Amino acid sequence: MFDYGILLYPGANRVYADAAAGLLRAELAVFGEALPTPPAEIGERRIGGVTYVTFRTEGALSEEDVALLSNLSSLYALFEFGGELLRPLEIRPLDTLDSDLLTIQKYPGKTNELFTKLLLNVTLLSRDRPGLTGPRRPHVVDPLCGRGTTLNQAMMYGLDATGLDVDKRDFEAYERFLKTWLRQKRIKHTADTGPLRRHKHRLGQRLEVEYGLDKQRWKAGDTRRVTFFNADTLTTDELLKAGSADVVVADAPYGVQHGSHQPDELTRSPRDLLAAAVPGWTRVLKAGGALGLSWNTHVVKRDEIAAILERAGLEVRTGGPFEGFAHRVDQAILRDLIVARKPA
Ligand SMILES: C[S@@+](CC[C@H](N)C(=O)[O-])C[C@H]1O[C@@H](n2cnc3c(N)ncnc32)[C@H](O)[C@@H]1O
Repeated sequence: MFDYGILLYPGANRVYADAAAGLLRAELAVFGEALPTPPAEIGERRIGGVTYVTFRTEGALSEEDVALLSNLSSLYALFEFGGELLRPLEIRPLDTLDSDLLTIQKYPGKTNELFTKLLLNVTLLSRDRPGLTGPRRPHVVDPLCGRGTTLNQAMMYGLDATGLDVDKRDFEAYERFLKTWLRQKRIKHTADTGPLRRHKHRLGQRLEVEYGLDKQRWKAGDTRRVTFFNADTLTTDELLKAGSADVVVADAPYGVQHGSHQPDELTRSPRDLLAAAVPGWTRVLKAGGALGLSWNTHVVKRDEIAAILERAGLEVRTGGPFEGFAHRVDQAILRDLIVARKPA
C-alpha cells in the first residue's frame, strides 16, 4: 500500500470554514472514478499542527495520476508518506492561463471560484468517460453563468465554454472584463458582439470570443471559444444544438438578495426555474454527459431537485461522496450540489 497526504490551500478554510477538508475528501473520492487505483481509506490527519487529507492506493500514483489530482479544487501540495517523512510530489495542474482570470472580478452574487472549480470537476468526472479533458475537448455550458466564473474556469482548463444569463449588467460586465483581460495579457483573440436573434425575434445580446492559448497555437488555427448569450435560460435549447454540451454546470439563484442590484424575479426560489429549464438543458447535453447543479437547500430540498432531474430522464448520482458536499455559506445559505448523468 502507498500512503499520501494533501495539504489544503490555505484560502479554502476562509471559503468553507470547517468544511474544507470534508469537501476535499468527497471531491477526491469522485476523482477516483478516473484513476486506475482509486484512493481508499480517505481520511484526515493533523501533522505538525496542520490538517492533511490522507489516502492510500494499492499501486503507487503514476505521473498521470498526480497530474490529474493536481486539479483538486483546494489542493495546495501533495506528499507521499514514508514513515515520519513527507516527500513532496511535483504537481502539474492543467491551468493554461494566469489565475487572476478567476480572481480579479469581485461582485455580490459571485460563486466562489474554488467552489466553481469543485462543481466543474465533479461534473466532468461523472461523465460515462470521466476526465477533465479528453481526446475530444469537452464543451462546458453554464446556463445561469452570471459574470462567468464557470466560463473562466473552463478557459483555465483549455476547454470551450458557453454561458447564458438574463441579466444585462452581468453580460456587459463580463464583456468588458474579458476583453480587457485578454488585451492586457496580450492573448491573440477576436471578439464579436451584437444582437442575438432567433426566428426574427431579438432575444438579447451575444459575445463570441475566439482565442489562442499562445501565439503558435493561434497561428496554427488551434483556438478556443467562449460564448455568452444574454438571454433567458429557457432558450438554451433554441440557441445550442441538441447533444452539443459535454457538461452543463450551474449555480442556481439562492433565493436571497445579493446586494440590491438584482430584480426580485431573479432572487426567488429556483424550484420553478429549474423545473422549467432542466428539460431544455438536458436536450443540449450529449448522451453520456453530466449535469451538475448547486443550490441553497434552505429554499429547495435535495429530493425535489433530484425529482426534477429524473423527470428529465437523467440518472442522479447517489450515495458516498455524491451526498457529502453540503456546506454552510452564510446564515441564509446551506449550499449543496447534485450531479446526474444522461444515459448513453
Ligand atoms: C447564483 S447566480 C450565478 C453566479 C455565477 N456562477 C457567477 O459566479 O457569476 C445565478 C444567476 O442566474 C441568473 N438567472 C436567474 N434566472 C435566469 C433566467 N431565467 N435565465 C437566465 N439567467 C437567469 C441570475 O441573473 C444570476 O446571475
